[in-house]
Amino acid sequence: DRPLKVALLGCGVVGSEVARLLTRDGDELARRIGAPIELVGIAVRRLGRARDLDLPAELFTTDAHALVARGDLDVVVEVIGGIEPARELILAALEHGASVVTANKALLAEDGAHLFEAAEKAERDIAFEAAVAGAIPIIRPLQESLAGDAVQRVLGIVNGTTNFILDAMTTTGAGFSDALDEAQRLGYAEADPTADVEGFDAAAKAAIIASLAFHTRVTIGDVHREGITDVTAADVRSADEMGCVVKLLAICEKISTPDGDAVSARVHPAMIAKSHPLASVRGAFNAVFVESESAGQLMFYGPGAGGAPTASAVLGDLVSVARNRRQDVHGPGDTAHADLDVLDVGRA
Ligand code: HSE
Repeated sequence: DRPLKVALLGCGVVGSEVARLLTRDGDELARRIGAPIELVGIAVRRLGRARDLDLPAELFTTDAHALVARGDLDVVVEVIGGIEPARELILAALEHGASVVTANKALLAEDGAHLFEAAEKAERDIAFEAAVAGAIPIIRPLQESLAGDAVQRVLGIVNGTTNFILDAMTTTGAGFSDALDEAQRLGYAEADPTADVEGFDAAAKAAIIASLAFHTRVTIGDVHREGITDVTAADVRSADEMGCVVKLLAICEKISTPDGDAVSARVHPAMIAKSHPLASVRGAFNAVFVESESAGQLMFYGPGAGGAPTASAVLGDLVSVARNRRQDVHGPGDTAHADLDVLDVGRA
């Protein structure tokens, strides 16, 4: 079989791990796909990065636009993050006939519909398992495994940094800022922790989850959002006295209203009974708890961030879309067909 040509956009923590595993495990991945994978280019912001990796220097380029416009790519893997230039690069990749694998939750949560439409038009895949909860398979279960069921509610601990902070507050009695310092010291929280502690990261993931779970369109702007910066040591202590723990939850629900079904998506600190499976999610781990009509309760648990776990999800998508390219077919595409109202329901 002809080799499938793959380009990588971004070579940070996730991208470099993807490149390393693609190179190391190329033969085994080729057997799983049914065709060899050829990594033909890696777009980086600065070429200095190339020196740190054990890869041929000629693979690296700072011209991502030229790379996606080559016209012979089968798959483009986007791990740059952020809205632009990621959006224009993904759209160009699809236009030039490549399928796309992306970990870009911010872009999907803001403008997923546009990307799905472009993929549909190009008859190519756009896969994004890595965009929500890192290594945890949750996108494909919602898109495919549960496609015949009726999801009623999804509760997610989808941000590892805030779970680490709240867990540290619970176990040590520390206040928010001491726990944040500890999370930064250990490398969980970034120097600017806003996206995590103010709930923006979780809200993007909630929008993606709600869209898939309820086959409708929910964007990050639809998600009611409250972070954890106001959670105090006293809040955590009184939750404990009531047999609960405080977690930052992404809550996506289908709600019946007099006007028909609607959706609510929100992110806020919530008290959970210690007996609930989500209460056992410690440290920087993530979990997604799904309640659906026929399946009942399901919980997906694991590492939600980090180079290797996120690379696992990216490579899984790469294998899947490469198999499709080889057979010249494409996957489920845009599963949103309902146009449900999104209710602005705050903290329950
Ligand atoms: N910063 C995120 C977290 C990981 O702490 O879970 C990437 O989504």
